[in-house]
Amino acid sequence: MDTDRTKKPATAARIYDFFLDGLHNFPADREAAAQVVAMMPAAPAMAKANRAFLRRGVRFLADAGVRQFLDLGSGMPTQGPVHQIAQRIAPDSRVVYVDIDPIAVSESQELLAGNARTLAIHADMRKPRDILDHPRVRKMLDFDQPVAVLLCAVLHFVPDDDVAYGLVDEFRGALAPGSHILLSHGASEGAAATVTSEEHDQVQQVYGQRTATPAGGRTHDGVARFFGDAEMVDPGIVWAPQWRPGPEDPKHFADDPRLSCIWAGIGRLP
Ligand SMILES: C[S@@+](CC[C@H](N)C(=O)[O-])C[C@H]1O[C@@H](n2cnc3c(N)ncnc32)[C@H](O)[C@@H]1O
Repeated sequence: MDTDRTKKPATAARIYDFFLDGLHNFPADREAAAQVVAMMPAAPAMAKANRAFLRRGVRFLADAGVRQFLDLGSGMPTQGPVHQIAQRIAPDSRVVYVDIDPIAVSESQELLAGNARTLAIHADMRKPRDILDHPRVRKMLDFDQPVAVLLCAVLHFVPDDDVAYGLVDEFRGALAPGSHILLSHGASEGAAATVTSEEHDQVQQVYGQRTATPAGGRTHDGVARFFGDAEMVDPGIVWAPQWRPGPEDPKHFADDPRLSCIWAGIGRLP
């Protein structure tokens, strides 16, 4: 089984795991990751800055009383995963992990074995009803109560605006008042704008040709649109390292947070 897995083509989930110094990646992922790093040397630091934002955001939400989490494009629950942070603060927290990469999902299921308040399912968030109507998801999460929907470093894998805004609208529409959206997203301005269009295209090509999920950044305004009429939690949508930084965070980009190339924010639905 593991031998077969090593022959799988690269996926965004496992390239990201490699950038996080994780152990859940295979030769094709490492090759694709090396190609990205050759063009964008800061890519591993960007991944770490993003994951650090996710950890801080989940801690903030759990401290604020959130007990239900729907993590869309979750990757693998390693390196300070959502359920561990939330359940350390409130053991009754329930977490559903969703990813399009079947191997990431089966590895997640192995890692989560024995934790009855977690679930990992294989689904495409571009089809929100498959997730919102999934019987096991509905058993784990009560959508009549507030839920935090996590969209961390995943919407840039949905470059088509109609599809991306449409899917987030549908998830927002299914949530009870007081629910939250936690979101991070690759930027197309700031430091990202200093990358030549040729370099940008080359990175796009690695994801577009080597994985099933092509990638593309959005502007601050484009990211703000995902939050709809949510009230933004302070400090609003900022560069990921600027979102309530903590002493335990990686120090990359301390001098210039724009170089993280990741917008991040949390909004609360009215
Ligand atoms: C960069 S990783 C982010 C992982 C995690 N959310 C984090 O921020 O630490 C992006 C993940 O999104 C997943 N993904 C991409 N498109 C998706 C889709 N349409 N539906 C569900 N997952 C998707 C990829 O498989 C990958 O695991």
